[in-house]
Amino acid sequence: MSHSQTPLSPLRRSRSAAGERLEILDQTLLPWRKEWRPLTTLADAEHAILTMQVRGAPLIGVIAAYGVALGLQEHDDDAGVLNAISARLAATRPTAVNLGWALTRVCEHLRALPELTGQQRINAAWREADAIAAEDADNNGAIGAHGLKLLQAIRNSHPDRPLQLMTHCNAGWLATAGHGTALAPIYAAHQAGLPVHVWVSETRPRNQGLLTAWELMEAGVPHTLMTDNAAGLLILQGRVDALIVGADRIAANGDVANKVGTCLKALAAAHQCLPFYVAAPSSTLDFNAASGNDIPIETRSADELRFVAGVDRQHQASRLRQIDEGHSVYNPGFDITPAALVTAIITEHGVIPAREPALARLLRAQVSEDR
Ligand code: MRU
Repeated sequence: MSHSQTPLSPLRRSRSAAGERLEILDQTLLPWRKEWRPLTTLADAEHAILTMQVRGAPLIGVIAAYGVALGLQEHDDDAGVLNAISARLAATRPTAVNLGWALTRVCEHLRALPELTGQQRINAAWREADAIAAEDADNNGAIGAHGLKLLQAIRNSHPDRPLQLMTHCNAGWLATAGHGTALAPIYAAHQAGLPVHVWVSETRPRNQGLLTAWELMEAGVPHTLMTDNAAGLLILQGRVDALIVGADRIAANGDVANKVGTCLKALAAAHQCLPFYVAAPSSTLDFNAASGNDIPIETRSADELRFVAGVDRQHQASRLRQIDEGHSVYNPGFDITPAALVTAIITEHGVIPAREPALARLLRAQVSEDR
């Protein structure tokens, strides 16, 4: 992938005599402005997740893990503080299960090391968060490689023209610690010389599709931005070969929670008998949720619909009101795509059906790796 001056990670980590340092790329300013923000306290990590300076299920998990280390730095002599730190971070966003997964992993790691003194415990928290970030990047690489094979097979069925793909929201490097989930196979295809074109849906109301368009532009991947509502037209006109999206949580029965609007694309894809792939690491799997009905759906602020954000002619960040306060507004952040509409899930362990037995095997593989 050739990126012009583009950071390939939404986080920067360093360690020096002065201590540990963590910075994030503020996604509330993208794609207009690249600004890095240091996170130095638990409140900073909480704020970054809550306000979506960082977003995307895997990245939320990674930042939450670092949030534990930041929290311990503020209370290094209090062994009982771990639960309180974890509870604060867990309350930031409800749908992405990677958040709870990462918090459980760091906390269990630290509880298994009761002999550590204050500073040693803090160091152990930083190391575990680093490990989670590194594993996420590795998982992205594996998802890319597995997904590439699927894309090659689809392309072989019509080698005369570029592969037409569609995605929703942003599941690229901005949403993870590596090359992304849904975008990883697309980047891998582009790198392998497979001609691809990506239909990118805007993803109202937060417009994460603009982040995807920006990522693809920087990587030189041909793409076209479209309104969310154009998806049905394009799919039913036969202008799409396959869809790939990410996931925020996958229930035991294979139902998938992802950015609101995903389900409508899956319904249109099923009507047209198109492959609908979900790309996600095993940390997105939640066996405590038997089905999508058990997945909490985040209801977001009405202001996301009442205002539109952008930059003005002077390139200054600006917000414009589009409707007044008198209107009732409903703004769910996610929807549930029934397992029956999902062709397969692309994981770091391979491509598996969105069905309970395959997901249970995946969960076992994940648990044995975490140990
Ligand atoms: O609200 P967001 O922007 O955090 O939602 C992100 C998504 O829904 C992504 O599609 C999902 O997390 C997969 S990210 C690799």
